[in-house]
Amino acid sequence: MVHAKTWILKKHFEGSPTNSNFELKTVELPPLKNGEVLLEALFLTVDPYMRIAATKLKEGDVMMGQQVARVVESQNSAFPTGTIVLAHSGWTMHSISDGKALEKLPTGWPDTLPLSLALGTVGMPGLTAYFGLLEICGVKGGETVMVNAAAGAVGSVVGQIAKLKGCKVVGAAGSDEKVAYLKKIGFDVAFNYKKVESLEETLKKASPDGYDCYFDNVGGVFSNTVICQMKKFGRIAICGAISTYNRTGELPPGPPPENMIYQQLRMEGFIVTTWQGEVREKALKDLLKWVLEIKREHEED
Ligand SMILES: NC(=O)c1ccc[n+]([C@@H]2O[C@H](COP(=O)([O-])OP(=O)(O)OC[C@H]3O[C@@H](n4cnc5c(N)ncnc54)[C@H](OP(=O)(O)O)[C@@H]3O)[C@@H](O)[C@H]2O)c1
Ligand SMILES: *[C@@H]1O[C@H](CO)[C@@H](O)[C@H](O)[C@H]1NC(C)=O
Repeated sequence: MVHAKTWILKKHFEGSPTNSNFELKTVELPPLKNGEVLLEALFLTVDPYMRIAATKLKEGDVMMGQQVARVVESQNSAFPTGTIVLAHSGWTMHSISDGKALEKLPTGWPDTLPLSLALGTVGMPGLTAYFGLLEICGVKGGETVMVNAAAGAVGSVVGQIAKLKGCKVVGAAGSDEKVAYLKKIGFDVAFNYKKVESLEETLKKASPDGYDCYFDNVGGVFSNTVICQMKKFGRIAICGAISTYNRTGELPPGPPPENMIYQQLRMEGFIVTTWQGEVREKALKDLLKWVLEIKREHEED
């Protein structure tokens, strides 16, 4: 009998999440059936999207999410014992899968590379940065890119891909340590948005000609200030709106229409899972290659 330690959503969020929203339970798992595998979690991920996605759970459901797991018992020849997989098992130490939704690590993954990166730079957040910047923003060398939550899982990859593509990158983050980190990983300009006197002046100084691409992770009034500084035919990728995820009241006002119209801006929301099959495989291959090329410590939370 396997006893799985599992975090459940005990009570739906209201405003900021607290401990009382969650409960740690022990669940007894049944024996494996033919075709099934038993997974043991090595790394779980906690992502901002869960703040929204959890509204669709029932109270008492397992918190959702991807994990890197090891197959510890197998009745499925495609996933022998010891195989490392990505699974959508949620916040649980053990789970049973029929193998259908399991994914192996990208080919060429070296033994020395931390497996947790499969949930970060070489996983969903990295893919989000990749497709948002290259497909939705359609960034070209020589352009200027603005990204917020820039030291986060998505934002830090946005900045680094933009640099690889020959762009100028400006990033906003919420602490001086994060700003120092952004400079270390190659951002041309980085600032602490909590400390600047005027966001407008800071953005103007960072790029007096304005911005070609805005990769938005945050939303809200911050975005309205950036949008007023877009160049003509600028592109805005709406990736996330983390500043609004805990809200209990009204949404803040939307983007200023004059700028959208006269600068002829294009704003597009996107979801990373839109890109599947070969394009996704190619993206993971690129991300893995870039990670291996950069001889630097991997910073993860
Ligand atoms: N569209 C998609 O398919 C997709 C996929 C993945 C993620 N996303 C979105 O992408 C965004 C970033 O995700 P991530 O995984 O990179 O997150 P993350 O690593 O957890 O980073 C989140 C960061 O956002 C910043 N933040 C939080 N509240 C803020 C506020 N009120 N104003 C400004 N910044 C705030 C914080 O950094 P500071 O200290 O800098 O404030 C926080 O550390 C999220 O909005 C997420 O929902 C979208
Ligand atoms: C949302 O709530 C969480 C948990 O209390 C907190 O860590 C986070 O900073 C909050 N986010 C915002 C944007 O207020």
